[in-house]
Amino acid sequence: NWPTSVTIKEVGPRDGLQNEKVFISTEDKIAWINQLSGSGLKNIEITSFVNPKWIPALSDAVAVAAGITRVPGVTYTALVPNRQGLERALEANIDTVAVFMSASETHNRKNINKSIEDTFPILKKVVEEAQSAGKSSRGYVSTVFGCPYEGIVDIEKVISVSETLFEMGIGELSLGDTIGVANPKQVQEVLEALLKRFPANKFALHFHDTHGIALANILVSLDMGITIFDASLGGLGGCPYAPGASGNVATEDFLYMLNSMGINTGVNQEKLLSASRFIQDKVGRPLPSHSLQVCSL
Ligand code: HMG
Ligand code: MG
Repeated sequence: NWPTSVTIKEVGPRDGLQNEKVFISTEDKIAWINQLSGSGLKNIEITSFVNPKWIPALSDAVAVAAGITRVPGVTYTALVPNRQGLERALEANIDTVAVFMSASETHNRKNINKSIEDTFPILKKVVEEAQSAGKSSRGYVSTVFGCPYEGIVDIEKVISVSETLFEMGIGELSLGDTIGVANPKQVQEVLEALLKRFPANKFALHFHDTHGIALANILVSLDMGITIFDASLGGLGGCPYAPGASGNVATEDFLYMLNSMGINTGVNQEKLLSASRFIQDKVGRPLPSHSLQVCSL
């Protein structure tokens, strides 16, 4: 009972690079994003309009957005934490504004310096103003499957944050396994609870691959009707305000699995791998992707 097609949302240029010690030059970021948009990926999260003091790796957000070649049919998304970020994102002509917060109080405070309660009105304004400007929006809930500071997160908290974000008018909600601690049984339980309240096509799943079971978690999600997944080329990534977070599931490994299952994505594996080799070279260390290791033999 697998879907016939799946949407891969590439978050490498944002989640992948936000925690990298090496500053990838603006020119290289632009070249990489252009390779990604040439590979058949239809959704790319290209950067973050957060406080550059918090995320120096993406301090060139405006220049990156201005420098890339926009491919018709490709949606370019960026992370936006507040109105100041939205202003910059609108100037940069971003297509989709991604707001973000956590299901756990401590991670929310460490990551965006506010309580959950104080975050809601800020994000609501961002979503409303994005909508008035003709932009679509997406939301992220982090620490859905576990918090680096609080451990297990109550499903009720996830439901309540999700509900408030949907009420704001976000088009889609990405459920974040921020530190990669989810397991297939838990994914099933969390999705069962959420899918009683909201339709499956409103969700994306965002798995970090700390323990190598992101693909197992994806498989369970697929089986439960989820068809949108975030992934990061090479398996790059992590959140600097979530100790222990490793990279997202590697896009090329995920694509390999979908291709072998006959599930359509529209993405070209060779072009994707070549973009992965490019960024591996720039980052200057072997990336966690399995496909990349096989193909470089
Ligand atoms: P703050 O310091 O509390 O902000 O940061 P503030 O409103 O008090 O302002 C302080 C200073 O920041 C001021 O400058 C503002 O102008 C500036 P100063 O007067 O000191 O020179 N400022 C900004 N500058 C540029 N763009 C902005 C902006 N906002 C304020 N948008 C804030 C609050 C939310 C901005 C900060 O905490 C922040 O930037 N946090 C971002 C952290 C982050 O990016 N984390 C990683 C992404 S989330 C993630 O990875 C999880 C995810 O992948 C899903 C998952 O895996 O679970 C999405
Ligand atoms: Mg993430």
